[in-house]
Amino acid sequence: MTVLDLDPDALLSTTRAVRKRLDCTRDVPDELIRECAAAALQAPSGSNHITMSFVIVKDAAKRQAIAGVYARCWDIYSNSPFFVGAIQQAGASAQAQQDRVTDSATYLSQHMAEVPALVIACSVGMRLDNVEPMVSASVYGNILPATWSFMLAARARGLGTAWTTIHLMMEQEIADIVGIPFDTVQQVCLSPLAYTLGTDFKPAVRPEPDSILHWDRW
Ligand SMILES: Cc1cc2nc3c(=O)[nH]c(=O)nc-3n(C[C@H](O)[C@H](O)[C@H](O)COP(=O)(O)O)c2cc1C
Repeated sequence: MTVLDLDPDALLSTTRAVRKRLDCTRDVPDELIRECAAAALQAPSGSNHITMSFVIVKDAAKRQAIAGVYARCWDIYSNSPFFVGAIQQAGASAQAQQDRVTDSATYLSQHMAEVPALVIACSVGMRLDNVEPMVSASVYGNILPATWSFMLAARARGLGTAWTTIHLMMEQEIADIVGIPFDTVQQVCLSPLAYTLGTDFKPAVRPEPDSILHWDRW
């Protein structure tokens, strides 16, 4: 196992959504993916009951099919009032950054099929349609930190990922492509997985910590 020379804070602050810098010419070795899964398995699980699963899609025809669904979802989302509203709310100062994200996300929607591996993060056991907040928080809690651990481990190995969720608009179609049992398995995230073009990534500009902290009361 070869990992990049990144201290914990550097790893945490430079694991970006990688889209344009995915190297689609190199295969991702299965062994590296296993190492990322091993890191994911170290994340917390409610009652220590493991319900996380990751579908790794390397088959070219399946990647193509998933990419087709993803592109349709992106088309719907990027033309939706929700998306347009979010862009407008960003304000002039953040506009350039939002424009870059939109450009990058559009690029991914056009190139998803070329990425050597796609990762579909899933929670096994139940769907999250109309469930109590405690149940949904528990189910999500069993898979979202694990998925982020997978991505951090990938970054440490020179691999790039990008958290995406818009495919969930057509989740059943994705399930059918790779045989996920739709009735009992909830997909939560779809990510490209590829070596990155270069390994130098920078921390993002973010608000000050005090803007999200509430000391002793809200
Ligand atoms: C819950 C969630 C959903 C996201 N969905 C998408 C998506 O569908 N497509 C996409 O290209 N990026 C998606 N992203 C990535 C964000 O656009 C990205 O994290 C954000 O622009 C900040 O960039 P950074 O991660 O490089 O700091 C998603 C991220 C999160 C956390």
